[in-house]
Amino acid sequence: MPFYSKLGHIPQKRHTVFKKNDGGYHYEQLFGTEGFSGLASLLYHVNRPTQVKEILESINVKPERVQGEGLKSQRLKGFDIPAINDYLESRVPVLFNQDCTISLASPKTSLVSYFFKNAAADEVIFIHRGLGTLRTMMGNLSFSNGDYLIIPRGVIYQIDFETEDNRLLVVESSEPIYTPSRYRNNFGQLMEHAPFCERDFRVPKRLECVDERGDFLIKIKSHNTIHQFNYATHPFNIVGWDGYNFPYAFSIHDFEPITGRVHMPPPIHQTFQSKGLVICSFCPRLYDYHPQGVPAPYHHSNLNSDEVLYYVAGDFMSRNQIQQGDLTLHPSGIPHGPHPGAMERSLGQKETHELAVMIDAFKPLSLTRDALAIAQKDYYKSWI
Ligand SMILES: [Fe+2]
Repeated sequence: MPFYSKLGHIPQKRHTVFKKNDGGYHYEQLFGTEGFSGLASLLYHVNRPTQVKEILESINVKPERVQGEGLKSQRLKGFDIPAINDYLESRVPVLFNQDCTISLASPKTSLVSYFFKNAAADEVIFIHRGLGTLRTMMGNLSFSNGDYLIIPRGVIYQIDFETEDNRLLVVESSEPIYTPSRYRNNFGQLMEHAPFCERDFRVPKRLECVDERGDFLIKIKSHNTIHQFNYATHPFNIVGWDGYNFPYAFSIHDFEPITGRVHMPPPIHQTFQSKGLVICSFCPRLYDYHPQGVPAPYHHSNLNSDEVLYYVAGDFMSRNQIQQGDLTLHPSGIPHGPHPGAMERSLGQKETHELAVMIDAFKPLSLTRDALAIAQKDYYKSWI
């Protein structure tokens, strides 16, 4: 996140001795995204963060690709995935390429029996339904319906849910997730024409600093494998940090839509960017105000990206029979547009209450076997 933040206690000068009150020293860690030149923070640990006791069995979680579905538009009935107690097991990858994995999840219970770290991807967790607290080594973030939780690679976390009916959309990106560069000035500050500003981002509030020794299981995801590391010290043992790299939350309800006299293209909905994808927020807004304007989107050939839409709430104006939790894929190379009757329905409408998240992936996405199990048969023929 390109703004400076600070939490807890840190020494006056970086890379200098930082003593504990009872004697002994704190241990400094540079925590960055892209080597020593990307966004980074300096963390101060009570215990060295390197105390591996044992490496246990690893688990292959490589998504299984379905053959023969290329270039076919898909509708996945997202709420048909099973609700599962365990957080990691609840995550069902449905689409993936070399840059990202898109999963749906319905975890029923909190993640408390182990810690999780994604070591190879930034995670964006969109909370469709759910209330709780993301607990991380860098502090805690409360969340509710409509929140994006952005968790940079390497952050160790747990999740407390206050609810049992939780619905998540999870994007893992092998390249870091940022806000769109066209909304930022040379210094990284969001400019006046951006649909959000720094005030809309929630940073970690409360540090849990646990000075405990014992057995602490961290499940570490790296390149389609879950590695299980048993550490000798509690991973939440940071007394303070400062810098530019930290988890944060942004509510889709704080996205201020950009509207126009005639139809505005999807980039106006953009919320996040990465090298391999963009994430956009379609929010309730006034429609175009040209007297002859057509509020429904025109047909378009997205020749450079596979377009994924996740439907959150409201009537989605361009689609017939779409339900909450559905996810559609419109692959690169095949023109798509409003369903029959949708364009006509949109004429004269003043506003929309649609709420959806779009992911445009720049490399072709593969469908998984789990996705095929919740796919609507023959969705690709639904424009006839
Ligand atoms: Fe589209």
